[in-house]
Amino acid sequence: MSVWAKHQVLEKNSMILLVGVLIVVAIGGLVEIVPLFFLKSTIETVEGVRPYTPLEMAGRNIYVREGCYNCHSQMIRPLRDEVERYGHYSLASESIYDRPFQWGSKRTGPDLARVGGKYSDEWQRAHLVDPRSVVPASIMPGYPFLATRDLDVAHVARDMSVQAMLGVPYSEEMIAKAQTDVIAQANVDDAGASDLAKRYPKVVARDFDGDPKRITEMDALVAYLQMLGTLVDFKTYDRKANIR
Ligand code: HEC
Repeated sequence: MSVWAKHQVLEKNSMILLVGVLIVVAIGGLVEIVPLFFLKSTIETVEGVRPYTPLEMAGRNIYVREGCYNCHSQMIRPLRDEVERYGHYSLASESIYDRPFQWGSKRTGPDLARVGGKYSDEWQRAHLVDPRSVVPASIMPGYPFLATRDLDVAHVARDMSVQAMLGVPYSEEMIAKAQTDVIAQANVDDAGASDLAKRYPKVVARDFDGDPKRITEMDALVAYLQMLGTLVDFKTYDRKANIR
């Protein structure tokens, strides 16, 4: 049988062709994937990156629930215009604990990967309640209910154990202290805050929603927005030291 005749077998039998295609695609896939298992690390670990505090994680869950990712990305690309506008390009390790990741694919609004510290808490609150009160031409919807809804604090520990199951290094102590950590971070209870900083370095504890008597969803979302992109200190970050 000539090569041509052999090939006709494939071309004339769709099932055999399908099996052939699957085998070829599988080989291609393996060639791409298998080497990754033998690399020591596919993602550089960078100093400063830590899992979210319980309050920040609750805020992140609200961010996902409200679909903020539909209009906002969280990934600064290594292109000059992006770096000049938003700051240092995003490092893979900065989203190492993001499950699901929030890179996004749509920028109706600006990238938020480094929005932490860009504005005051007061600005963030006013903007979330009514974006047009601070940015008159804004087309972002308002989320005024966040300021009046109590945060579901009891739920946070369960969220953390799910994240731990997915590989985020939350210890049993961190999960057990989830509720008190939420209160310590949002209510600026000094004793609690110093204990919180042992578990979560660089944590910022303050009353984020401007209402010290309550812990609202606004507390959680503003705490999350204010820490975005602030964990890695780019003054001391050495790119070459992290390349292996
Ligand atoms: C319909 C699209 C849309 C949605 C949904 C949306 N935004 Fe926005 N956002 C925008 C636009 C447009 C801007 C720029 C104008 C402005 O500042 O209001 C913006 C600006 C922002 C800014 C200021 C960024 C900067 O660097 O100036 C923050 C912070 C922000 N949004 C947070 C959020 C959060 C949190 C949510 C979800 C609760 C959200 N946005 C949902 C469109 C959106």
